[in-house]
Amino acid sequence: MSYIKYLTCKQCFNQYPIEPLNVCELCFGPLEVNYDYEKISNTVTRNSISNGPLNIWRYQPFLPVSLDNMIDIGTGFTPLIHAKNLGELLGLKNLYIKNDSVNPSYSFKDRPVAITTAKALEFDFKVLACVSTGNLMGSVAAHAAKAKMKSYVFFPTGLEKGKIIGSSVYGPTLISVDGNYDDVNRLCSELADNLKWAFVNVNMRPYYAEGSKTLGFEVAEQLGWKAPDHCVVPAASGELHTKIWKGLIEMKDVGLIEKVNTRMHLAQPEGCSPIVKAFNNQESQIIPVKPDTIAKSLAIGNPASGPFALQTLKTSSGSAVAAPEEEISECIQLLAETEGIFTETAGGVVISSLRKLVKNNKINSDDITIAFITGNGLKTQEVIEHTVKYNQIQPTYKSFEQTINIT
Ligand SMILES: Cc1ncc(COP(=O)(O)O)c(C=O)c1O
Ligand SMILES: [Zn+2]
Repeated sequence: MSYIKYLTCKQCFNQYPIEPLNVCELCFGPLEVNYDYEKISNTVTRNSISNGPLNIWRYQPFLPVSLDNMIDIGTGFTPLIHAKNLGELLGLKNLYIKNDSVNPSYSFKDRPVAITTAKALEFDFKVLACVSTGNLMGSVAAHAAKAKMKSYVFFPTGLEKGKIIGSSVYGPTLISVDGNYDDVNRLCSELADNLKWAFVNVNMRPYYAEGSKTLGFEVAEQLGWKAPDHCVVPAASGELHTKIWKGLIEMKDVGLIEKVNTRMHLAQPEGCSPIVKAFNNQESQIIPVKPDTIAKSLAIGNPASGPFALQTLKTSSGSAVAAPEEEISECIQLLAETEGIFTETAGGVVISSLRKLVKNNKINSDDITIAFITGNGLKTQEVIEHTVKYNQIQPTYKSFEQTINIT
């Protein structure tokens, strides 16, 4: 049972049937899934969700798929951790880390991909494909393996070894394309027009995007059915930022939470921050950039959902922050040393931005603040490799004593 009604264009609101479509024929705007919220609110209660499975499928009435083709490799219901140590350092009493780096393929991408895989099976696709900045391809390959589908994953040349090996293990066809993400995206849009493949973030994008709402649902549920005061969200295409907001609003609209006064802050690395620039310069259009950042997972120079992220920033009175490149690895280390959580570069961008938001008095000490940690540090080890020091000793007490200074 699914409560999905139709697709609508986000720009001109023209309606389309539930098919593998992503672009409006009239204005080329992106399409979005619409639901029968009346039916959802008649079905869903806090109890019905609490009694559901401990994964994203507990929120199925808000998702564009039925449970018939559910693919479950354990995605979702990740820990929300009270970050007392980092909070103390920054002067925040109620700082929480949403640690989505512990999903099955070690990034939040498992959420949208689980939904899309189920929808691709519903549409009878045999092949799952994607254009990736690194994390998506591991997730697509893992879900395709579980669904007994073939997978083809396309990525810009020069990604981190951990992301390539961490995808290869699931048996996809890996295709490294000479060019940046935006070049790969153009190629895949052309391929999606000609091949009968489910490109999760191209022709399946409306369904894919819905998966990230579950991060908003989970945080509200884990806080005891209330929305936080602040979310700090990393952005590449800008989709995640917008969909966390959509998740919170949907929960309010069906009466699961009382109100949403959340400020949706958006974080990008300085070397690829087109959304931040547009917002801070009060422009309504995003000017594409050529990415030059160590945060490769966020290296999208022409962000597809950028205009909607701008809208979400405005509607929620959020701020947009560009993290200096040199702070990214320092902040990966800071989170690890204070909270015992090892994140990838996107998480370094989030922590650097959080620190700046506090410094600029955008977040007060009592405010309930969520830092979204969306990818795992084991995938981008090269960015902190230079900081590694260790002692080499002989297997004797004497050698230990001579080398290690016990304090
Ligand atoms: C770890 C991580 N965090 C955040 C993002 C941003 O997601 P979005 O493209 O929805 O803005 C990505 C995108 O690939 C990512 O890999
Ligand atoms: Zn349209």
